[in-house]
Amino acid sequence: MQLSQLTIRDFRNLRNVKIDPSPGINLIFGKNASGKTSILESIYYLSHLRSFRTPYLTDIINHEARFLQLFARAENQQKKSIPIGIKRSRQKLEVRANQQAIKRVADITSLLPVLAIHPDSYRLITGSPTQRRQYLDWGVFHVEHGFFEAWQRYKKALTQRNAAIRSGQDKKYCQLWDAELDHAAISIDELRQRYFQNLTPYMNQLITAFFPGQDIRVEYKRGWKENESLLEYLRQNYDRDKKRGMTQAGPHRADIQISVDGKSAQTGISRGQQKTLVALLKLAQVKQFTATDIRHCILLYDDLAAELDDEHRCQILSVLEQMPIQLFLTAIEPQQIDTSHWEDRKMFHVEQGIVEAF
Ligand SMILES: Nc1ncnc2c1ncn2[C@@H]1O[C@H](COP(=O)(O)OP(=O)(O)OP(=O)(O)O)[C@@H](O)[C@H]1O
Ligand SMILES: [Mg+2]
Repeated sequence: MQLSQLTIRDFRNLRNVKIDPSPGINLIFGKNASGKTSILESIYYLSHLRSFRTPYLTDIINHEARFLQLFARAENQQKKSIPIGIKRSRQKLEVRANQQAIKRVADITSLLPVLAIHPDSYRLITGSPTQRRQYLDWGVFHVEHGFFEAWQRYKKALTQRNAAIRSGQDKKYCQLWDAELDHAAISIDELRQRYFQNLTPYMNQLITAFFPGQDIRVEYKRGWKENESLLEYLRQNYDRDKKRGMTQAGPHRADIQISVDGKSAQTGISRGQQKTLVALLKLAQVKQFTATDIRHCILLYDDLAAELDDEHRCQILSVLEQMPIQLFLTAIEPQQIDTSHWEDRKMFHVEQGIVEAF
């Protein structure tokens, strides 16, 4: 899918914006605080129904408005255009796609695969495992069918087991969910493993090109011991789980470990290197996605020029050029990004929340 039309109303400082993006590269430029990141954030919101900058709704609805609205036309490979509409007040969310009400986030996410790289993305390396699981599961969700259902089953059983443990139910009752957890965990782990295996060559190819001579390893950790079934863990560690008030192992504790020359990437490399590495991990996902899926994918890249030095910026741009994706980039000055290699390109100038095709 790619966006052929986008209308933004009362999303941060964007009171009323209407653009017809190019199917190739879209360069959004303007001064600090003009509203560039907010445009990318609104596209991300269309797909995820949440922001990449804040968990708070009041941050993104314009301070003077009661609700925000987004309308878009998403075009598929056959040029069929699907209208998508979102209205979000502080109390209520309404989502429609193709004239139908959408109830689950997953339905809108799968319709519109969107990935974002932004100045806080380095937290994928320095932050909690949750962020790395989100990264992994973006791909598993879009590429591996059956993941969403397995995850829903697992989450439900986990919530019930944890509630039983906390409310002091007897052991037999708490263990009622162990088999279901084990069963769902096996599916989740298999799908994550398969996806990760398919992703690895794309990661390695990019990492070798950007970090020559460095030994960078990215490993998937499933969330419980390799040589033990989750059922065994749950049975043997019941007392420990009870003491802590929650189930301490399983796919909800999965992680990705990243090391550079044997040291953890969390502390062993510079912030700039972390940013480059995260960009590569995400670009690898886009590459893997476009190689296996006929759907188009949308990549949002915020502040590329401010984030990387000239050499890395040019290198990243040449990777992006070869990708059959719709791209939204932001920069302060248009000349910071050379878009001349793209056949389909548009530029948009933003000033105080007003956006004009340039
Ligand atoms: N809920 C809101 N209502 C109104 N204005 C808001 C709201 N949230 C943020 N803003 C304002 O929107 C403006 C645009 O912010 P944004 O982060 O999109 O700018 P930017 O162009 O990406 O800037 P930079 O170049 O510094 O990254 C800022 O001035 C910010 O204060
Ligand atoms: Mg910005």
